[in-house]
Amino acid sequence: MENRLSTGIPGLDDLVGGFPKEKSILISGSPGAGKTIMALHFAVASCEAGLTCTYLATEESPVDIKSQAECFGWDLNEYEKTGRLKLLNVLERQVKAAKDSAKYGSPMEITTFMPFYNRIPAETDVVVLDNIGSLAVGMKPEVLRAQMDLLVYKLSEIGATSIIVSDEALSERTNDVVMYSVYGAIRLMRRENPFTNKRERVMDIIKLRTSKIPLDYVLFDITSQGIKIISTTN
Ligand SMILES: Nc1ncnc2c1ncn2[C@@H]1O[C@H](COP(=O)(O)OP(=O)(O)O)[C@@H](O)[C@H]1O
Ligand SMILES: [Mg+2]
Repeated sequence: MENRLSTGIPGLDDLVGGFPKEKSILISGSPGAGKTIMALHFAVASCEAGLTCTYLATEESPVDIKSQAECFGWDLNEYEKTGRLKLLNVLERQVKAAKDSAKYGSPMEITTFMPFYNRIPAETDVVVLDNIGSLAVGMKPEVLRAQMDLLVYKLSEIGATSIIVSDEALSERTNDVVMYSVYGAIRLMRRENPFTNKRERVMDIIKLRTSKIPLDYVLFDITSQGIKIISTTN
C-alpha cells in the first residue's frame, strides 16, 4: 500500500487498497449510516501507524465521540495524551447560526469554510471534518463548490490525507456539487434487500481516482468491532 493509508477497515483496504495519501475523500450518507464510525476507523488506524490526526467535530462533543470509540475498544484519550490525536469541537455557535439562517431565512449567510481551516494545524498528517453539512447547507451551490475546492486545496497543500463527512442535511444536488471537488467519494446507505425483505447496510464507492473500485454495492455491518465488510452485492 505504497502512497496509501489504511482505511482502518481491513475488508475495505482489500477492496480499494486504502486511501490515497494527501487526498480528500468524501463520506456521505443519512444520519446513523455509519459515517462517524468510518471516520473513527481511519483516525485510529492513522494514530496506530504513528501519524498525527486532527478530528474536527461539529455536532458531537469530544466526550460523545470518545464514548462511541470506546464501544469498539479504542481509547482516544491515550492518543490525545501521546499527542497523536487532536479532537476538537468546531464552531458550535456558527453552525447553529447557519442552521437557523437556513431554517428561518434570516439575512445571516455562511459563505465560507474558514472556521474549519482556521482550526487545521499545518503539521497534521490526517484530518477528519465531521461534518461539513451544517455549514454547507447555508451556501449557494456555486459558493459551496468554490469553498470545497479551496478546502481541498488547503488540505493538499499541507499534505494532509483527509476524510470530509457530509450528511444529508444537504440536498442530493448539493451533495453532487461537493463530490466534484474531492479525490474519492463513498456513500453509506441502508436499503431493503429485495429478496429477504430485510434491511441491510451497503456502501457505494462512487469514485476513487487511480484505484480499481467495485461496481457493486459493498455489504457491511456495524458490530462491536466497528464496521465489518461482508461482501460485494449486486
Ligand atoms: N457497538 C455497536 N454495535 C453495533 N452497532 C453500533 C454500535 N455503535 C453504534 N452502532 C450503530 O452505528 C450507528 C451510528 O453510526 P454513526 O457513524 O454515528 O452514524 P453517522 O455518523 O452516519 O450519523 C448507530 O445508528 C448504530 O446503529
Ligand atoms: Mg456522525
